Amino acid sequence: MEQQLNTLLTLAKEKLATISSSELLEEFRIEFLGRKGEFTSIMKGLAQVPKEDKPKLGQMANKAKKDIEALYRDLHAKLSAGSAGNTGESSIDLTLPGRKPETGKLHPVTQIMNEVCSIFEGLGFSVAEGPDVEHDHYNFEALNIPAHHPARDMHDTFYVSDSILLRTHTSPMQARIMETQQPPLRVIAPGKVYRCDSDITHTPMFHQVEGFLVDKNISFADLKGVLTIFTQKMFDKDLELRFRPSFFPFTEPSAEVDIACVICNGKGCRVCKRTGWLEILGAGMVDPEVFKMVGYDPEVYSGFAFGLGIERIAMLKYGIDDIRLYYENDLRFLSQF
Ligand code: PHE
Repeated sequence: MEQQLNTLLTLAKEKLATISSSELLEEFRIEFLGRKGEFTSIMKGLAQVPKEDKPKLGQMANKAKKDIEALYRDLHAKLSAGSAGNTGESSIDLTLPGRKPETGKLHPVTQIMNEVCSIFEGLGFSVAEGPDVEHDHYNFEALNIPAHHPARDMHDTFYVSDSILLRTHTSPMQARIMETQQPPLRVIAPGKVYRCDSDITHTPMFHQVEGFLVDKNISFADLKGVLTIFTQKMFDKDLELRFRPSFFPFTEPSAEVDIACVICNGKGCRVCKRTGWLEILGAGMVDPEVFKMVGYDPEVYSGFAFGLGIERIAMLKYGIDDIRLYYENDLRFLSQF
C-alpha cells in the first residue's frame, strides 16, 4: 500500500505538469481526488491492512492526499488568474484603459470673472484689485454718499466697526485709483462684495466687476458703445440692451442696464421676476462731485463708470435659475461647467 501511495503521488505530479487548462484540471480532480477516484480506492484498501500497520499507513495516506490537494490548488489558482487577464500568464491586463484621475475645475463664477476681465482687457482696460474690508470713506464718503444719505439704506451693509465695513460694491476702487493716478484712465476692478441679503437672486457675498474710463470728451455714447460690445462678446450674440434711468450718488446721469432674459426669452419667468429683463449692471457718467474729491477738474475731464454683477451674468449664460446653487458646493452642479 505504501508503494501504491508513492506511485499515485508521482503519477499525480507528472500529470499536473502537463495540464494547461481549467477543463483538464477538473478532469484531474475527478480522477485523483473525486469520490470514485484513485485515491478513494486506495483508501478502501486500508480496511484490509494489518491492525498494527494502520496508524502509520493512515498518516501516509493523509499526507499524500494533502500534497496532491495543495498541488491542485496552486495550479487552479494559476489557471484562473491567467484567464482573468488576457495575457495567460499574469493577472494584469495591460490592454485595459487606465483610470483617469478626476481633474479639478474653476468655479463657474471664476470662469465668468476671467472671461469678463479678458473682454475688457481686449478693449484696453487694465485690472486693479482692492480690499474686501474697506473704509467707510471709500465705500461711501468718496462716492458722494455722506453719513445719513438715504442711498446708504440701499446697501444693507455689514459693519466691522463704525468706520470699517465689508465693501458693498466695487465702486470704492474708483476713488482709490483716481486718488493716486491721473487721467486718462481705463480700469476694471473685479472682486467680492457683501450685502446682508439672501433669496433666489441674492447671496450675502457676490462678485462684481467695476469699470471706469476717464479722459477728455467722454460721453454717454462711449459708455453705451463699450457696454454693447461687451454684451455681444459675452453672450456671442446681439442681445437686446435696455438702459433705464436710475440714480447713483456717484454718477450723473445714471442708468440701470438690463439684457433680455435668456432663460425665458423675454416672456417672463421666476428669474426675471416676470419682466422679461434681467438687470446686469448699474452705470453712469462719473459725478463731478467725485472728481472734485479726488482733485480732478470736472471742467476738463469726464468719464463713465459701471458695476457688473458676475453671478447674474453666469446665471444667464448657463441658464441657472437659483443663485444660491453657486455656493452650496455640490460637485454634481459645479462639475458641469
Ligand atoms: N456700485 C453700484 C452698485 O453696486 C453699481 C454702479 C457702479 C453704478 C458704477 C454706477 C457706476 O449697485
